[in-house]
Amino acid sequence: MTGVFAMLALLAPTAALDNGVGILPPLGYNTWNALGCSGMSEASVRAAAETLVKTGLRELGYRYVNLDDCWQDPNGRDPWTGEIRPDLTRFPSGMKGLADYLHGTGLLFGIYTDRGLLTCAGRVGSLGHVMQDAQTFASWDVDYVKEDNCYSSTGPNDEDMLFYQFGLFRDALNSTGRSIFFSVCGGGSQLPLANLSYYATDPRGGKNLANAWRVAPDCVEWLTCRWGSAVASRLYDVAGLGGFNDPDMLLASSKGAARRLTPKHSRTQFSLWAILMAPMLIGARLELLDSFDLETYSNSEVLAVSQDALGRQGMMLAQQPSIFEFPFSVWGRPLGDGSWAVLFLNDSPILMTISCDADCWAKLPFAAGTRLHVRDLWTHGEADRPLATVGVPYSVDVPSWGASVMLKFRRTNRQLIAV
Ligand code: GAL
Repeated sequence: MTGVFAMLALLAPTAALDNGVGILPPLGYNTWNALGCSGMSEASVRAAAETLVKTGLRELGYRYVNLDDCWQDPNGRDPWTGEIRPDLTRFPSGMKGLADYLHGTGLLFGIYTDRGLLTCAGRVGSLGHVMQDAQTFASWDVDYVKEDNCYSSTGPNDEDMLFYQFGLFRDALNSTGRSIFFSVCGGGSQLPLANLSYYATDPRGGKNLANAWRVAPDCVEWLTCRWGSAVASRLYDVAGLGGFNDPDMLLASSKGAARRLTPKHSRTQFSLWAILMAPMLIGARLELLDSFDLETYSNSEVLAVSQDALGRQGMMLAQQPSIFEFPFSVWGRPLGDGSWAVLFLNDSPILMTISCDADCWAKLPFAAGTRLHVRDLWTHGEADRPLATVGVPYSVDVPSWGASVMLKFRRTNRQLIAV
């Protein structure tokens, strides 16, 4: 340990995350994929909030309205007090005004900062102002803080400094006495396809540090989103109630957004994120969501999987790993009522029949020969093959190129009564 790190270790924050919020994965909206930096404005955020109410999404649990980068004054902090200031040209009501409006609408208010000198988009970061910013955010009645990883003085991958500085912010938030969801993010600057799983597994990270921690770089199109889901899957045992692996935000397929997926991919992303117990922050221009996207995000059966109170994250159960054959995978998540949500995902260019075979069944806790009811969480009825027998391959036809079928396997009533 160098002298500097020995000093850091002595000063190291010791408290664990203890904020009592974020027991289940947060649902809501984040501005980044929708508006980027240039589209940020109070009017757009209010339009998103109004849409959450009008469409019924708020009633389904989407309550966080989170500002990402570029809410800050481009001219920096107040030169006299050092306080962080909003861009009042774009947010004329200021942050407290916006928070009051959102709270009055039954929504929650999230904000973004960075542990470095600047944020990833070059606005002012929290370095050197940790306690002051935490107190400012609390005075604005902020409910969620995402802290990013750009422009750190020792680079984005210096793990000692990273955990030290994120830990300082966690403790500063705790010390405000306000319950604030804390999300740590890294992924902007570690491309290509860095594996950020140390955020989850290091004893200074995971649930000791935050309510959510990014496990992969930004999910900006299908391949990066799939990469994030694969990393999150391997980390299934570190997540739980109050702490979630974060493969990044939802992209949706609506027009007008800074980033988006095809409709098919956005629906698969939503299903996968529910299996992975991931934060579900929609990154679309909500007022431009078409009926397909609205149906996606309003699917109460998939939301019930996301919000399942057992709090056990799902994982990939089986996959076709050979590069000489078409790729597919089967994913599963145990649920509080003893059932399992199972997703069949086809990454190949042709329609495929995907099976839960002997290896896949072996990953599920049901005894061989058990009869299971199978429900389709997207058609909201019995699956095409409504009964499965544990141990006997169960097959599903799945359309090509990233489409998926999401089912729920549950013991039949007779067996439920027998146990
Ligand atoms: C990236 C981060 C994104 C977004 C962006 C803002 O590093 O991963 O989610 O917050 O910065 O500049």
